[in-house]
Amino acid sequence: MLSSPVLLAVALFCGLATASPTRLLARRDDVPGLQSGSRLTEQQVEGVEGLLNRTATRSWEIGAHLQALLEFRYPALAPFSFDDDWASVSPSTSFSSSADGDNPYPYEIVSAAAEIVASKPDGQGQLISDGSAADPAAVGAFVVLAANLTEEGANLRGSSVGREAAWSAVEGQVRELLERTPRTGDGAISHRVSEVQLWSDFVYMVPPFFAYLGALTANTTLLQLAYDQARLYRQYLRADSGSGQGLWRHIYVPSGGTTDEADPGLWATGNAWAAAGMLRVVASLINADEDWEDDFESQAGDLAGWVREIVEASWALPRRNGLLHNYLNETSSFADAASTALMVASTYRLAALASEHSGLSSSAPSASALSTAESAYLTLTTTSSSSTVHISPAGVLSPVANPMSYADQLDNVRADGSGSVSPEGQAFVLNMESARRDFIEEGGTVSADAREVEGSNGSGGKRALGSLALGVAVAAMLAVV
Ligand SMILES: *[C@@H]1O[C@H](CO)[C@@H](O)[C@H](O)[C@H]1NC(C)=O
Ligand SMILES: *[C@@H]1O[C@H](CO)[C@@H](O)[C@H](O)[C@H]1NC(C)=O
Ligand SMILES: *[C@@H]1O[C@H](CO)[C@@H](O)[C@H](O)[C@H]1NC(C)=O
Ligand SMILES: *[C@@H]1O[C@H](CO)[C@@H](O)[C@H](O)[C@H]1NC(C)=O
Ligand SMILES: *[C@@H]1O[C@H](CO)[C@@H](O)[C@H](O)[C@H]1NC(C)=O
Repeated sequence: MLSSPVLLAVALFCGLATASPTRLLARRDDVPGLQSGSRLTEQQVEGVEGLLNRTATRSWEIGAHLQALLEFRYPALAPFSFDDDWASVSPSTSFSSSADGDNPYPYEIVSAAAEIVASKPDGQGQLISDGSAADPAAVGAFVVLAANLTEEGANLRGSSVGREAAWSAVEGQVRELLERTPRTGDGAISHRVSEVQLWSDFVYMVPPFFAYLGALTANTTLLQLAYDQARLYRQYLRADSGSGQGLWRHIYVPSGGTTDEADPGLWATGNAWAAAGMLRVVASLINADEDWEDDFESQAGDLAGWVREIVEASWALPRRNGLLHNYLNETSSFADAASTALMVASTYRLAALASEHSGLSSSAPSASALSTAESAYLTLTTTSSSSTVHISPAGVLSPVANPMSYADQLDNVRADGSGSVSPEGQAFVLNMESARRDFIEEGGTVSADAREVEGSNGSGGKRALGSLALGVAVAAMLAVV
């Protein structure tokens, strides 16, 4: 380990001589699982994975589960990867032979994808039947991955589902969204099948699917579509004034009064879905192919700027015991650990992308957003007996919004996992851990404001020097050269 900031800056500077000019921080290997900087235990992670396996049963929950596994266990296959191999996966991609190796074969993901395709009735366009037009698309990327890891004419590993069947299921899902789902006049695809409704949740379900599929099939129409849908959703949902300016409303229903489903509140999980979904699109646009990095620079810059807007506005609002409110600007709403975890993940992903790609540097999160995110991470992962434990030894996250009734807190949550859990919240724990791990692996340093950490005794929060100062120093050196 490099011990001084000067050495680190010098090392970064020397690395630049040979690296692509857009990479400011050193790219490292993708490392799966828990790493030394983590505050989660193996036992908690096993608990989280077991709970997800048992409870993530609805389309979007399965999608959130598989994305969390991808990032945590198979980071080399995720678009956030430091290496662009994720976009050229094929039957000849090499994996380590043991499941404990550095780059294992994503067996649970492939078998979950095979099960989805096998369970889909012929003639059904959606990958999983749902009243939501968007949620089934949340599993789309994993069916694409499974198909592309499989030889032509062969079956997805361990299943009787052929590669061609998987591909035609993916194409059916794309057609369902593009040809059979209602839209607004300017083209925003509805979140619901029955009438046009725009939910912030959509941005995690559909644009990342289009972007991932576009990256793996070199289809720039799909990449552009991913961007356009995020742009349109923001245009409809963003609060332009008030205490939550820049944050997104949850549900807009253009037909207005005929439905009670509209939710103009700034739902925390919805904002985190939107931020995290746009980050997956940014990564797919610029971490896949050198040419796209140039062609899609302005789109990636917009998206990163929109994520920054959400991240900054979220952390700037009052929190309760270190956690975001379920409605971000409503201090009477309960503290929600699930959205807090995904917002921490989004803050670290944004920081990593903005330091990797010079075109995104103006969207780097502020030092204050980064330290607030780290404080939230410390709050969520504390095991101190003098503060509230938010992730139990068995991996149960609390307190959380009820995924089926978003304005309410989920009740009957039990530390041993025998009660209710929020499957999406459980997934966000792994997203958070993966994002922070990757940020650290890339050379970023984490630093909390101890005063913000619930249960902190006022010391031990400050951990390291701010990495942004270094990024700025390196950029300044570049300018001189
Ligand atoms: C993935 O499979 C599709 C469909 O066969 C193909 O068009 C595409 O080139 C494959 N992608 C990669 C990276 O091999
Ligand atoms: C869930 O657990 C079963 C039994 O251990 C395993 O076969 C399957 O691959 C797991 N699925 C996921 C998505 O983790
Ligand atoms: C890209 O994907 C869209 C949507 O599936 C499709 O209509 C189009 O033909 C594809 N373009 C290319 C060049 O494959
Ligand atoms: C929170 O923001 C929403 C959307 O802008 C607004 O309707 C609501 O009045 C705000 N709540 C408070 C307490 O300011
Ligand atoms: C405060 O926290 C630090 C670091 O975690 C610890 O070493 C110290 O013993 C704590 N002090 C008290 C009074 O709890």
